[in-house]
Formats: sequence, C-alpha cells, structure tokens
Amino acid sequence: MSQGNGDAGRVLSPSSSNKNIHGISTDCVTLTRFVLEEQRRFPSATGDLTQLLNSIIVAVKTISSSVRKAGIAKLYGIAGDTNVQGEEVKKLDEVANELMINMLMSSYTTCLLVSEENEKVIEVDTEQSGKYIVCFDPLDGSSNIDCLVSIGTIFSIYRKNSPGKATVEDCLQPGRQIVAAGYAVYGSATMMVISDGNGTHGFTLDPAVGEFILSHPNMRVKERGNTFSINEGYAALWDPALTEYVHSKKFPQKGKAYGARYVGSMVADVHRTLCYGGIFMYPATKDSPNGKLRLLYECNPIAFLIENAGGIASTGTMPVLDVQPTGIHQRTPIFLGSKLDVQEVLDLYKKHSTSAPAQ
Ligand code: AHM
Ligand code: MG
Repeated sequence: MSQGNGDAGRVLSPSSSNKNIHGISTDCVTLTRFVLEEQRRFPSATGDLTQLLNSIIVAVKTISSSVRKAGIAKLYGIAGDTNVQGEEVKKLDEVANELMINMLMSSYTTCLLVSEENEKVIEVDTEQSGKYIVCFDPLDGSSNIDCLVSIGTIFSIYRKNSPGKATVEDCLQPGRQIVAAGYAVYGSATMMVISDGNGTHGFTLDPAVGEFILSHPNMRVKERGNTFSINEGYAALWDPALTEYVHSKKFPQKGKAYGARYVGSMVADVHRTLCYGGIFMYPATKDSPNGKLRLLYECNPIAFLIENAGGIASTGTMPVLDVQPTGIHQRTPIFLGSKLDVQEVLDLYKKHSTSAPAQ
C-alpha cells in the first residue's frame, strides 16, 4: 500500500460481487483485504505499510473491546482505580496508549512514535526499527469515557526522510507528507475511517466475525451542510469573524437557521461532519491563541481524511496540512467540513483581517 492515484485493481463495493448466502456476505471486503489490495497496486511495495496498518487494526480492535468492557465495568465490580480484589485498574487511556505503542513497535516497521500521552518522542529499538513514523492520540475525548459518550483513536503515518538515526526533527513534517491516516470511533458501533491519499473509506467492525468490513467506500463530505459544531461556552472569547459567522448561522437573513451539534469528542464531531456535512470548529480564543487541538496527532490526520473526502480543513488562514510543525505537541485552530461552509468562515476572516493565529 502506498500513495497514488486511480482506482485500478481496487475493490470498492462493500461486497465485491454480491455473494450473499442467507443474508451473509461470502465475499466481503475486510479492512485487511482492502489494505492488501492497495499494496498490490504498487509492485515495488515491501508490505511494511500493510504490516503497520494491520498492527493498528489489532490495537484498535483491542481498544474497542476495552472501551465496551469499561462501559459495563461496574457490573463486574470494577469501580474507580481498583477492582474487587483491590488490584489497581489501569485507566483506559493508559491501556490504549500501551496497546498502540506495543503493537506499533512489534510491527518492525516504525522508528519513531509520537503520542498525546507521552511528553517526548518514543524511539523504537534498532532491532525492531523500520522506516515509518506514527503520530497518534490513543484515546481522544477520554474525559467522556465515564458518561459513555463516543471516543476515538486518531493516527497519521509518515515516512522517515532523512538518513541515519531518527530524531525528533523527522516528526516535524507538514501533514501534506502523510502516507496514510485514519481514526477509529467507538460509538454505537466501532468504525475505522482511513485514507492513503486515494479517497476516504469507512469500515465497520462486525463483532460477530471480529473484522472491519467496508461499509462506507469513497466517503464524500457534502458541499454544504446544515449544522455548525463549536463549543459556544467560549463565545465571549471569540474573535469578531467567528462571532459574525456563528450569528449568521443562528439568525440567517434568509433560509433556515443551522442546527447546532457539539459532542465535545473530536472524532465523534468529525465523523458526523463527514457523514452529514456541515462545519466543525475549534478556534483560537483570547485565552488560547492557538486553540486546543494538537496539530500532529489530532488536526493533521483528520484534515487529511477530510481533504481526501472533498472537504476543507483550515487554520483560518491556511490549510492545516500546510502548517510546518515546530513542536510535537503544538496546537492549531481548526475549521473543517463542507467546502462552502468552511469557505464562508475563511471569507469572514479575510474581511475582518483577523488571523486565527496558528504555527
Ligand atoms: P483530549 O485530547 O484531552 O481528550 O481533548 C481533546 C478533546 C476533543 O476530542 C474535543 O474536540 C475537545 O477536546 C473538546 O474540548 P472542549 O471541552 O474545550 O470543547
Ligand atoms: Mg486528544
């Protein structure tokens, strides 16, 4: 699997030849099959990226299972930080982080990992080392775990471009250089949405078979939606461009007002935007001039998926994917979703000449 264009040889229908027996597909496209078929389009591919993605799939399946168990933990007497035996129970975000790190390291395809949970870059031992760099948020929205709101895992994969031992500088590549990116959303079902630069595709986990099955081939963001998504609690801290934009959606001069939707879990808000259209915003505020969300493992992978689905992801002044990172945990404001909706905000920023400071 590698970056490229064209659909030659690609199987994109959920059930490639409609082989259904008693309602059960006997030829469904699993995520593993999809990844393998992508790899075959590039005869020179080594299979490393396929192996790497398979390690993420295993981590995500295990995180999904842990999330479901945590949701019913009280039934089993697991509450707080200890279980009924008085043993320490690891927090779910720590479990997710360990899973991602262990699976990625043991794939023998990575040299550096950047995790939201680790202050410093994680170096992979030389004997396990490979050519890829992975930036990830193992469990985004984890403050929502206890009230059973959807949460997710986000990742992006880069190639190491420099010779010699990998250093932190190798992680500071603009999102434009992403090889593949994706997220998993642990919602009413678990889904993985991925892109290798050739469309954005969704796979739903069928717990009966334990596989991600292609359910949303070639996802496209509607040109215009009818919802806006932002934490309005911070409205007093917004700049005039954003204030004008949100006001115009609530009190339109013509047509219907937009609906407001905000889960407060980025993956869930983005997934809805990808499926139904509209705009998701986490802007700069007076208190947080760079917004809250992190460039390397939250905004860049999501921007890559949104652009590959025909949408826009901007800092307010430039495409998110073009920002040159200077630090692994740096933040950026973000406005993403339907082209026409995001363009309206960008036009207002131009009109007010207010930059939404990023980078
Ligand atoms: P986290 O990485 O600590 O979980 O925080 C990121 C989350 C995003 O999922 C979400 O979009 C945002 O924080 C919500 O922030 P707020 O509560 O300020 O609206
Ligand atoms: Mg996060």
